[in-house]
Amino acid sequence: MSDAVTVEEQVERAGQAFTRRFGRPARLASVAPGRVNLIGEHTDYNDGFVLPMAIERQTVLVADRRADTHATVVSASQDMPASFQVDKTLAPGEPKWANYVRGVVAGSLNHGLNPGGFDALIDSTVPLGGGLSSSAALEMATATLIEALAGRTLEPVVKAMVGVFAEHTFAGVPCGIMDQFISAMGRPGQAMLLDCRTRQMRMVPLGDASVAILIANTNVRHELTGGEYAQRRRQCEAAAGALGIKALRDATLGELEAARTRLDEVVYRRARHVIGENARTVQAADDLAAGRWARVGELMYASHQSLKEDYEVSCAELDVLVDLTRPLVGKGVYGARMTGGGFGGCTVTLVQAEAVPEVTAHLEREYQARTGIAATVFSTRPAAGARGIPVG
Ligand code: GLA
Repeated sequence: MSDAVTVEEQVERAGQAFTRRFGRPARLASVAPGRVNLIGEHTDYNDGFVLPMAIERQTVLVADRRADTHATVVSASQDMPASFQVDKTLAPGEPKWANYVRGVVAGSLNHGLNPGGFDALIDSTVPLGGGLSSSAALEMATATLIEALAGRTLEPVVKAMVGVFAEHTFAGVPCGIMDQFISAMGRPGQAMLLDCRTRQMRMVPLGDASVAILIANTNVRHELTGGEYAQRRRQCEAAAGALGIKALRDATLGELEAARTRLDEVVYRRARHVIGENARTVQAADDLAAGRWARVGELMYASHQSLKEDYEVSCAELDVLVDLTRPLVGKGVYGARMTGGGFGGCTVTLVQAEAVPEVTAHLEREYQARTGIAATVFSTRPAAGARGIPVG
């Protein structure tokens, strides 16, 4: 499936697929983007700060109402269609991919939004399992479709939390709030500094045509993510407990050092990452707003190092992609780091816009030479969050 399509083209092709599948035209459409996190990794579930932006890769849903309370959801890329009743009995089930949809329907019902029965088709250009929040994009596109079907909207923050509910309760993923917030509320030309405790958002301008955001997909996904993610959360909670605070957001590096002898060595390093990363993220938002690109780049490299050594969520392929950018600092590259949960997925690199072709070619060639795997590299601008799309 080609990724180089506009949202309009994607809605068009999804509409055609819908008509072929269901024998009538779709009447409603919604779209929600994937995201890349510029900095602030594994901080959201510590009540900390994150700095993501929505990307120009998105999930489109096209749909039509049914006369009954049944829902059929098919995907252009997944073989197994999903089928369920839209009522309070909704529970997780098979196929697994559809639990994001079921969970959002259930969460919406909890908020009094009843879409009734519907048929829907999904078309996504967000790579699945690539660390660019394909699941949050599906959740927010689903929530937006439900708003259209129900004829009523949710507060954007509530809508994002319906997605988090779906992850926790239906998909069994104990994620934080970053992915759903940015997919729901991203804005073109802006990154979002999100305070995950107060849920206050500060939009940070990132529309300067002289810089670009390059995403490089390792195209590997190491299968340990689920358990490792939950384990990191527990280690952070253990650190906060030992420090006598609500969350690691409340600690300084000085306080952590003072408590070092009381902490397990691994727990100490996990906490050191989170506390340092929070400070880097707030600083990076200011540097980004002021156009201090080289400074943002240094913070990105420091973030990667900390994720690799203290938090231990990187992997060999991510490290290769980040290290490949280092000789190009001062020659078009400002900085790079892994993005998302880790153990595979993507890196994000801040580059001069005019250097995009050269940096892309360098990463593709050298990554292939070193790992034997083909990377997927593309540049993106900050995109808009979830929205309904007029059809017909
Ligand atoms: C995943 C989770 C997010 C966040 C990141 C790590 O993407 O869904 O909530 O915790 O990992 O920063």
